[in-house]
Amino acid sequence: MPSTGTSPEASHAAPLVVVANRLPVEYVGNAGEGEWRRAPGGLVSALEPALAGRPATWIGWSGHTSDSTEPALPEAIDDLRIVAVPLSGEQVEQFYEGFSNGALWPLYHDVVVTPAYHRPEFVAYREVNAVFAAKVAELAPEGGTVWVHDYQLQLVPRMLRDARPDLTIGFFLHIPFPPVELFAQLPWRRQLLEGLLGADLVGFQTHDSARNFLGATRRLLGLDPGGDRVDVPDQDGQRTVRVGAFPIGIGAAAFDTMARAPQIQARARQIREEMGGFRLLFLGVDRLDYTKGIDVRLRAFSEALAEGLLDPSEVTMLQVAIPSRETVEEYRNIRDEIELLVGRINGDLGRVGDPAIHYLHQSVSREELVAMYVAADVLLVTPLRDGMNLVAKEYIASRVQETGAVVLSEFTGAAEQLQEAFIVNPYDIEGLKRTLAAVVASTPEELARRLQSLRTNVFEDDVDRWVRTFLATLEGHVP
Ligand code: ADP
Ligand code: G6P
Repeated sequence: MPSTGTSPEASHAAPLVVVANRLPVEYVGNAGEGEWRRAPGGLVSALEPALAGRPATWIGWSGHTSDSTEPALPEAIDDLRIVAVPLSGEQVEQFYEGFSNGALWPLYHDVVVTPAYHRPEFVAYREVNAVFAAKVAELAPEGGTVWVHDYQLQLVPRMLRDARPDLTIGFFLHIPFPPVELFAQLPWRRQLLEGLLGADLVGFQTHDSARNFLGATRRLLGLDPGGDRVDVPDQDGQRTVRVGAFPIGIGAAAFDTMARAPQIQARARQIREEMGGFRLLFLGVDRLDYTKGIDVRLRAFSEALAEGLLDPSEVTMLQVAIPSRETVEEYRNIRDEIELLVGRINGDLGRVGDPAIHYLHQSVSREELVAMYVAADVLLVTPLRDGMNLVAKEYIASRVQETGAVVLSEFTGAAEQLQEAFIVNPYDIEGLKRTLAAVVASTPEELARRLQSLRTNVFEDDVDRWVRTFLATLEGHVP
């Protein structure tokens, strides 16, 4: 670990290199006619504002392939320098769609669909990780700090340490780290563990994930981890790698401010009126991903309506499914499944001009998203497994009137913190139905008590605190 001599303020000013598969900008519109905008997604919305005030470079993939015409990137957004790593069409197919999203994503999410392990895809993963590592090695200042993000780049810390032993390297995994019984399936499990152990600090969303990782180093590498660290053999003897839980937060104050804006409040009223006026509005917002349990909540909601646990004249539901990873087969399958289900439910339970479930398969602006949060009485978050789930926290931060309720899967990282939510097991449809009915039957006082406690949590553990805590631990200024 680096020295502990300097103050946190001094360390905060040191140049930082952030490395993530995605850049914080994306190109919106047709080539030549569109523009670069801040990119959506958990990782970007969390990190970008929190970096303000510290000179930083963000290295990532632009989302385009190097064999198509790529619009010129801006060099910086405010103080943040942007550097793109070009990927070819074949690399995108093998590294991104293949190994990252066809093997690692399902394996790390409890194997909710079967991971596909293909040797050429791992070769591409290693190659692309090497390209990222080489770019960082070229750009990082002497003695600088590098923060590597997420499952697409797990080999980068080791590669970077080999190339640039002067750097301080942190790694944060935004998704769960699975139990060793599942992780052990992976033919390249040793390489990934060794890749991660190239970092000085490896951070996870939850204590369970940190424990799983340490357990894997014991069982698969024969190391002897302690509570929050593991010693690894190195050229010069051994190094200590710190391991811990750093649950990510959101920019809560920004959501609160936006939710209070008159135009957002007006749009929220309009949404409610368009959806049946006085009725209670249930909302789901997710990337269209098989881990999110969208089908589970649709089933529970529709069965509760059909069985009279919920009254259709009192409740309605809006599900926003953001298009995601549509070139990966399992994502096309889950889309078909969900849309079949929505069609069936509306066919059975809807009336003319009044569907039981309003369904949107599209990306919405941040303003529209916050207006939906303000409009909805109940947020349904039912993933089968999720690293954190920022949508739950964003909804809570947007409930400025201190009303509303969150139904939250116990298999999200957020459930470890948001204990005053209505916690559910998404595999238990009967239990979920009973919880929906219980939410509707709750007194306003009970809902307000829960929401106030949730808001305290979301505002205290916000994204600024997350960045400060992670970097202070990495740079040796443990708070
Ligand atoms: P995941 O990272 O798996 O997608 P999260 O709930 O943690 O799930 O994060 C999703 C992020 O994407 C949130 O910050 C949310 O505000 C953002 N988001 C949701 N819907 C949209 C959308 N339509 N367009 C852009 N960003 C969105
Ligand atoms: C999750 C992952 C991120 C990823 C995001 C969007 O939040 O943890 O690493 O960037 O989903 O997915 P995409 O495949 O579009 O980058």
